[in-house]
Amino acid sequence: MSLLLALIGVVVGVVVASNLLLRWNELRYGRRRNGCLPPPGTMGWPLFGETTEFLKQGPSFMKQRRLRYGRIFRTHVLGCPTVVCMDPDLNRRMLLQGESSGLVPGYPQSMQDILGRNNIGALHGSMHRFIRGAMLGLVHPAAIRASLLPKIDAFMRSHLDGWSGSVVDIQAKTKEVTLLSMLRQIAGITAGPLSDALNTEFCTLVLGTISLPINLPGTRYYQGLQARKKLVSMLQKIISERRSTIQAHGDMLEALLTSGDDGTREKLSDEQIIDLIMTIIYDGYETMSTTSMMAVKYLSDHPRALQELRREHLDIRKGKSPEEAINYEDFKSMAFTRAVIFETLRLATVVNGLLRKTTQNVEMNGFVIPKGWRIYVYTREINYDSFMYSDPMTFNPWRWLEKNMESHPHFMLFGGGSRMCPGKELGTAEIATFLHYFVTRYRWEEEGKNTILKFPRVEAPNGLHIRVQDY
Ligand code: HEM
Repeated sequence: MSLLLALIGVVVGVVVASNLLLRWNELRYGRRRNGCLPPPGTMGWPLFGETTEFLKQGPSFMKQRRLRYGRIFRTHVLGCPTVVCMDPDLNRRMLLQGESSGLVPGYPQSMQDILGRNNIGALHGSMHRFIRGAMLGLVHPAAIRASLLPKIDAFMRSHLDGWSGSVVDIQAKTKEVTLLSMLRQIAGITAGPLSDALNTEFCTLVLGTISLPINLPGTRYYQGLQARKKLVSMLQKIISERRSTIQAHGDMLEALLTSGDDGTREKLSDEQIIDLIMTIIYDGYETMSTTSMMAVKYLSDHPRALQELRREHLDIRKGKSPEEAINYEDFKSMAFTRAVIFETLRLATVVNGLLRKTTQNVEMNGFVIPKGWRIYVYTREINYDSFMYSDPMTFNPWRWLEKNMESHPHFMLFGGGSRMCPGKELGTAEIATFLHYFVTRYRWEEEGKNTILKFPRVEAPNGLHIRVQDY
């Protein structure tokens, strides 16, 4: 009897203590003070907040809270008090106003530490404009036409050779294709020991950027920092070798090393060049490889779309010899391919949202968000909004041809405002070229049962296997 009473006492004690802790955390963040008025919501446990529920439930975590609190609510996830905003108009306004209204990128600490202090996401004001200017100089349409597209074409033409008769994991392949293609554009690096070493370190670095910043041997964060060190030293060696030759390379690294030589802009330091190269790979790698993989998946599930896409590419090939490259005009003529790429980005939601941090108290639809909070500009829901996309859960590339959806105010697949993705056209050209060689050379069917997870990132945990045959 006394044991039972003791047990009841412990249970009651735990319940009371938990309630007190939750209540304390609510009062700590939710109260109106110093002119701040956070939106409704719950903050979960001290320190951990609602991170576990957020990661486990993903999009349904957001939906449940939206039902309870509306399109703007507060929570505490990934170590920071956060306001989630699911209102398309407000999201757009936040992206457009950016720094002028007290919002700067708010990506996790581990990402900032591992990508370096010159990475574009860590920079604000004039430094951001300077580095962004250098980035835009590499990927503007004239550069895509004259130098990048020919490189992408030559790479895809040879790399997508000899796949017939085999079962390939298209997830692994699109990752390999994307990284190797980027390395070629950046510094003329071809497949071999150097690209293998860069790949290994880069994968470790990526895992480190999405981990808790605990710098102890064995943690992903620690390994990410070590990978960064190795990558910096490899890139520094490549830069030093470049400086010791007068040979022209015509790649991004050469453009970065010579930028400012004509006196029109300041020169970039080696540190800035290295961080920019890492940012380019980091920002382009996952987005492009995942979109390419998911495009293959959607096309296998939608034969009519595949037929239309293939027709577009066979028409382009008609006027060319087998060895002739696709050029910028060909790329620009690929209206249906572009539609397939955007529809893939939308339906798969390759990017769930964007993170910002408040540098001052920020007014938002009648609420006042305290300085130092994170804002999750959650754009995922827009992708499934039936007012914007009729029958939103259906893969329908044709919708992008009907109206000019790219200029719709709620088109945020590539962000918006002063942080809008500078790699949009290059990324689209890269995926389009991959699809060009893939669909004109091969037909394929899915092999076995493949699982695809959509949150927190789109991935096939055991790969996405397809059997490939000559077309
Ligand atoms: C399908 C491909 C891609 C998608 C969906 C995509 C998406 C995005 C999005 C949504 C942002 C905005 C981030 C924010 O506001 O916080 C962004 C920024 C950025 N992207 Fe992309 N991206 C793609 C390809 C690329 C490529 C190929 C590159 C490099 C060549 C690149 C480089 C960048 C950079 C450097 C930024 C930061 C810009 C800044 O802060 O000023 N992206 N991207």
